[in-house]
Amino acid sequence: MDIYLDTCNLKEIKSAADSGLLSGITTNPSILKKEGLLDLETAVKKFYELVPGPINLEVNPNLEKKEEIVKEAKRLREYGGWERNENKIVVKVHMCEEGLEAVKSLRQQRIPTNVTLVFNPFQAYFVAKAGATYVSPFVGRLDDLGENGMDLVRDIKQIYNNYGYKTKIIVGSVRNLLHVLEAMRIGADIVTMPYSVFEKLKQQIRHPLTDKGLETFRKDYNELMKYEPA
Ligand code: E4P
Repeated sequence: MDIYLDTCNLKEIKSAADSGLLSGITTNPSILKKEGLLDLETAVKKFYELVPGPINLEVNPNLEKKEEIVKEAKRLREYGGWERNENKIVVKVHMCEEGLEAVKSLRQQRIPTNVTLVFNPFQAYFVAKAGATYVSPFVGRLDDLGENGMDLVRDIKQIYNNYGYKTKIIVGSVRNLLHVLEAMRIGADIVTMPYSVFEKLKQQIRHPLTDKGLETFRKDYNELMKYEPA
């Protein structure tokens, strides 16, 4: 399972990239607003240096017509720089009928897409039928309504398996480590998380019993072998 950061904050991206755990990033208009990021094109150049894999950029959410969405998707894709061997830009398209038509057309043009704001299994089914590269169910926002967001991911995984759909599942709107653990159990392809959750995930490399056990093993080893640690 790949780990993405749900952020456009360079410090956070750098720190996650340095850990070697980061595969990609996702952004959306609210994330850009939080950082006051207006010049996305310049920011993408910096993302390119840090992020090893996909950089998800969302089309203008006001667009409602297929042609407009396709045009905007191509404009965002150009931030990837055609001179580079690898274009990492994945275009996020909001869930709607014309959006799915745009996804079909972008697929024919080999432009990878991520359909965002998915809240039920039928939407996810339509996303796969349209041939999107990724689907983004938002689990935390469903939890907020008293539903179980991870049940949606479970359903999507089963539906995609049943019919062999190739669309990859990005678990979004992640709020805690339980979401991450459940995503791993279900077999989601990717989890995109805020930096706060990423930090908690990284901390899981340590466990008090690991530390305690290691201390005992060292002590016993040193006594047995007459070993003097430096
Ligand atoms: C995913 O692609 C979205 O950017 C994101 O996970 C939304 O999460 P939120 O519900 O915390 O805004």
